[in-house]
Amino acid sequence: MRRILGTLTSVALLFTPGIGMAQTAPSQVSEFNGADVSLKFPPPVESRNAMAVSSQHFATQAGVDIMAAGGNAIDAAVAIGYALAVTHPCCGNIGGGGFATIHLANGKDTFINFREKAPAAASANMYLDDKGNVIPNLSLHGYKAVGVPGSVMGFERMLTKYGTKTRAEVMAPAIKLAADGYKLDEGDVRTYGFAAAEFAKEPNVAAVFLNNGQPWKVGENLVQKNLAATLREISAKGPDVFYKGDIAERVVAAMKANGGLVTMKDFADFTVTEGDPLRCSYRGYNIISSPPPSSGGASMCEIFNILSGYPMDKMPVHSAKSIHLMVEAMRHAYVDRNFSLGDPVFVKNPLDKLLSAKHAAAIRAKIDPVKATPSSEVKIGTVPHESDQTTHYSVVDKFGNAVSVTYTINGGFGSGVIAGDTGFFLNNEMDDFTSKVGAPNLFGLVQGESNAIAPGKRPLSSMSPTLVTKNGKVMMVIGSPGGSRIITITLESILNVIDHNMDIKAAVDTPRIHHQWMPDTVYAEDNAMTPAVRKELEAAGYKFTSGRPWGSAEGIIIGTKDGKRILYGANDARATAGAAIGN
Ligand code: GLY
Repeated sequence: MRRILGTLTSVALLFTPGIGMAQTAPSQVSEFNGADVSLKFPPPVESRNAMAVSSQHFATQAGVDIMAAGGNAIDAAVAIGYALAVTHPCCGNIGGGGFATIHLANGKDTFINFREKAPAAASANMYLDDKGNVIPNLSLHGYKAVGVPGSVMGFERMLTKYGTKTRAEVMAPAIKLAADGYKLDEGDVRTYGFAAAEFAKEPNVAAVFLNNGQPWKVGENLVQKNLAATLREISAKGPDVFYKGDIAERVVAAMKANGGLVTMKDFADFTVTEGDPLRCSYRGYNIISSPPPSSGGASMCEIFNILSGYPMDKMPVHSAKSIHLMVEAMRHAYVDRNFSLGDPVFVKNPLDKLLSAKHAAAIRAKIDPVKATPSSEVKIGTVPHESDQTTHYSVVDKFGNAVSVTYTINGGFGSGVIAGDTGFFLNNEMDDFTSKVGAPNLFGLVQGESNAIAPGKRPLSSMSPTLVTKNGKVMMVIGSPGGSRIITITLESILNVIDHNMDIKAAVDTPRIHHQWMPDTVYAEDNAMTPAVRKELEAAGYKFTSGRPWGSAEGIIIGTKDGKRILYGANDARATAGAAIGN
């Protein structure tokens, strides 16, 4: 068993200067002949049997322990989901919802949708004032921002349909972590520290997530007695206590007292759906990911389809040429995402068109070989937004099951409120809807009518829990938090493996780039490209925004070593409290 806490400080950047983007014809993308970027990272964690990777090491351990006790990857995924709700409550949480993409040992792939729903009293203009302007923060903070949570029902579906252990067995580690507490490390403390001022505004939040009014420190033990009691109730009585019983009642009482909309009927009416994942192929690999109400799978596949017309594998990682092509593909795919996708129960998603070879070819024909295309020339409009405090985890067992889960309460610690003594944060997923067509959301995304608010509708998501298969066998399990950037983080992690032959640790740690049509800027992490490449791209019309690192891609690759199956796991170096653990 091994745990690696990643670090980006070991990054070494070597390059050879680009040769300029001169003279060539449209089909010749080689004028973007950028620098070679060579990065060094620690090796992945190896295991012959099973592997789990999440952004909090106690949660990863919970999943590995379940598999060591004979459980399968689905049992482990449910154990991790509940444990993250205790140890990573900013992001993983029973007050939110998410998606699971699952490959079963029998060869079947399935997708479980436990995304939150808008309450019945929600309406398209609920976040607008009488002049039609968005009321700041109403969709982000407090009870009116909350959608009906889905995680408890989602985990139950996974466990009862595909797991082998009892609910009590898979929830026991989470209950222990909440009741006895867990020792905080630097990554945990940083996450709580970001929100300390917000915690102080809510007495029942401050009582737990501040230590006598002060931020928690490294090495201290965080106990969550109310959450432990809530988890014990769910463990003993099942999801009905959450959706029809005592827990729903306490949430609804707080809703009534604080202007929230979620009712007992909304809880009782909540449903989880299950169906086929969305699929596409890239250079002989099959990508299996999230269909609507996620935009993740569709947008990634659209970008893969566009890039499959270029020799991306022949270009150095983040050369000017490869960044140019990736950014242009992203620009177009985000326009399609923002204006045409939504909850499939409410809108017809034009997936046949968006994922067609014809559409990809038409976009390639519009991509200038040497110049950035201004976003305003691709589409007029405004962008939707999205929050980034989601979490992703990946699990593979010895039986041949693989599980990719991304779930969220949207913004960091969701709406910032905990109903009474329930112990868990409620989501602010309503902000993922289009509050006003054309107005940017938390992530700066500008969206259209297809994602307008309606009663019982699920907001469009970017969460992209993904599996990659080759010849019918899973070779990669991957996903990430990051709001609107989830799509490009997951995409780049896969491109790094398929095109650039990186191991999984390098694939998730390599600095990232992102473009989402609007704002019309290339987001770039430090070291994402050499100064020469950046200069070349600036000359081609690109603007750059540098910022703190983003996302936490948690991945597993299934390969062979010495003729036998081996699992390689990697916790993203950006998630310092996380771990890949083999068994
Ligand atoms: N709230 C982030 C997402 O669903 O994509």
